[in-house]
Amino acid sequence: NWTIEDFLERKVEEIREEVGDGKAILGLSGGVDSSVAAVLVHKAIGDRLINIFVDHGLLRLHEEKEVPMVFKDKLGLNLDVVRAKDRFLKRLQGVTDPEEKRKIIGEEFIRVFEEEAEKLGGRFLVQGTIYSDVIESAASGKETAKIKSHHNVGGLPERMNLKIIEPLRYLFKDEVRRLGELLGIPGEILYRHPFPGPGLGIRIIGEVTEDKLRILKEADAIFIELLKESGWYEKVWQAFAVLLDLKTVGVVGDERAYEYVIALRAVNSVEGMTADWSKLPYELLDEAARRICNRVKGAGRVVYDITSKPPATIEWE
Ligand code: XMP
Repeated sequence: NWTIEDFLERKVEEIREEVGDGKAILGLSGGVDSSVAAVLVHKAIGDRLINIFVDHGLLRLHEEKEVPMVFKDKLGLNLDVVRAKDRFLKRLQGVTDPEEKRKIIGEEFIRVFEEEAEKLGGRFLVQGTIYSDVIESAASGKETAKIKSHHNVGGLPERMNLKIIEPLRYLFKDEVRRLGELLGIPGEILYRHPFPGPGLGIRIIGEVTEDKLRILKEADAIFIELLKESGWYEKVWQAFAVLLDLKTVGVVGDERAYEYVIALRAVNSVEGMTADWSKLPYELLDEAARRICNRVKGAGRVVYDITSKPPATIEWE
């Protein structure tokens, strides 16, 4: 009859033994799994775990500041922040095809991570793989399911001769969260909605530009803030804004306006495989539309996505 406390104690011992006086690296995204893996391994080997946080510029509003604040300043992790926004935006210039965007972001991510890992050295690579990833991979017959390809630094372990450590491999998501609580990781990290590896790159339909990124980040933050204020954030599985590659006509004062359309998406789901669109109250949607159009320069119209999965996927690209 094991407890999460026993697990923690045992894992810390195991990791210490395995790593010895060596160094380990970990790609920290700020998502639940990599965060818990990072704090757990830090507890075992301290600063000999070097966490690499790649800021690809496609993160949610202020996330590039919040992640270092939580993990470096608050939890004391050894965190190496790589600011790579310009690199990613440059490679995404003129690209509109969703699969092409995903491929570019995934490739560039691995490239940046590899360059950084090479500089840092280290013999071990810590990954936040959890039990559902293991099952998913087995089911898909591939080493890693396609949907997770971005988070996995594919090919890197062999090329760099790194040994993989997966301390969460046999835990379910709720156990990972409990372990995270035990390790003192704040709730805003542990209970945050899932976020795709390619980030806002696949929530901007069409070409990704600085201006579109600003519009989407601001609109998304307003929607999420409203969900939190109203108690709906915890009631939906995932919610976010999407910026369409479409401008429509409106009126601002007495003037004609011609601005972008924002789509809001909120779904109820168990693991993301299927999903129902969330029946958010009309008043909440009304308030979201007003706030977004009033406060976000460049956003002129708001629509709500009422498609479930299937037939639609949760993300728009
Ligand atoms: P879809 O859009 O396929 O999304 O219905 C299902 C869930 O997976 C997330 N998602 C991703 N997660 N890398 C990720 O780590 C990706 O490339 C990716 N694409 C989709 C999506 O946010 C949803 O939670």
